[in-house]
Amino acid sequence: MRCVTGANRGATVTDAWNFEVELRSDPATAEARTAVLAKPGFGQAFTDHMVLAWWTTERGWHDQKVTPYAPLKVSPAAAVLHYAQEIFEGLKAYRHADGSVWAFRPEVNAARFSRSAQRLALPDVPQDEFVSALRALVTVDEVWVPEAGSGETSLYLRPYMIATEAALSVRPAGEVLFGVIASPAGPYFDTGPKPVSIWLSTTSIRATPGGTGAAKCGGNYAASLAALAEATANGCNQVAYLDAVERRWIEESGSMNLFFVYSDGRIVTPELSGSILEGVTRASVLELAADLGHKVEERRISADEWRDGIRSGEITEVFASGTAAVITPIGRLAWTEGDLTIGDHSVNHGVGPVTASIRSTLLDLQYGRTPDPRGWLTRLA
Ligand code: COI
Repeated sequence: MRCVTGANRGATVTDAWNFEVELRSDPATAEARTAVLAKPGFGQAFTDHMVLAWWTTERGWHDQKVTPYAPLKVSPAAAVLHYAQEIFEGLKAYRHADGSVWAFRPEVNAARFSRSAQRLALPDVPQDEFVSALRALVTVDEVWVPEAGSGETSLYLRPYMIATEAALSVRPAGEVLFGVIASPAGPYFDTGPKPVSIWLSTTSIRATPGGTGAAKCGGNYAASLAALAEATANGCNQVAYLDAVERRWIEESGSMNLFFVYSDGRIVTPELSGSILEGVTRASVLELAADLGHKVEERRISADEWRDGIRSGEITEVFASGTAAVITPIGRLAWTEGDLTIGDHSVNHGVGPVTASIRSTLLDLQYGRTPDPRGWLTRLA
């Protein structure tokens, strides 16, 4: 299964794909790594290695390898640079108390990667290969996975696929690169577990019916940046988007799905509309919240229901979910004509009890502190 000893080249880490391993001759020193792991932030530092695999129409997938982390050599005419033929995923590797390293539902990320690939006319990475690529990288860079008990830290894994064919005609590329990079990660928001504020965008739309909203492609995120800048200018951390047709229904927050907690214990999240990203954390929260005794509803919820619910007290908590964001409480909703505070900010830093219990239930499961009855964890190292 795994063989990363001795010579720098030619060793293999195999599952389904056969990864050639080329270890870097100048890995980060233990001191440098310790400094990163002590305060990782999010997406700022990267491990010593990365996975690469190439695909062409003629050869299919080939030349899979774990290789030193380095800039890519890509033609300036590569299709990805001009037509954004690109997809990615995000998931984390968690260190458990016994030292083992686990991924949370990686097969669900793999399935979404396949759906995204289909939508962006990119080749499929079979699910086993997707997981074997994660395992190959984490095996080689295991020392970069933060220790158990070091707070909410993990190794964030970022698989991606880009169209590298140098051709300016608009058509599916015949040459593609798949890669995985890894980055030690702490909380996504520097508010820590404290609530973030949301700007309700009434002008920018994230995704349209029939568009790419359900795919995890870079273009969706590029299209969200102007609204994010507007949110920041209005003192908010993130954006909530409305649907493209009626401009009435809450969709999602760009990098997170949204959940609304009602005073009777119900939890509502916008139903999957085709233009909402089907979050792995979202799907998990629906099941975990039901385990905790909540009635969960996937349905349309309007901006008016959100605002009226806060004003009347019927909506007691709002939170967002995502791999990077985990469970992030939302403490404020602002838009061009209004500003509302959500929840009681004098208690527990404004983190409501339902949000807190779902958050700890999820984290306990991911870090192996509670049993995993659904088999959601996959061992990577
Ligand atoms: C994730 O939660 O992993 C995401 O991909 C969201 C974001 C950081 C782009």
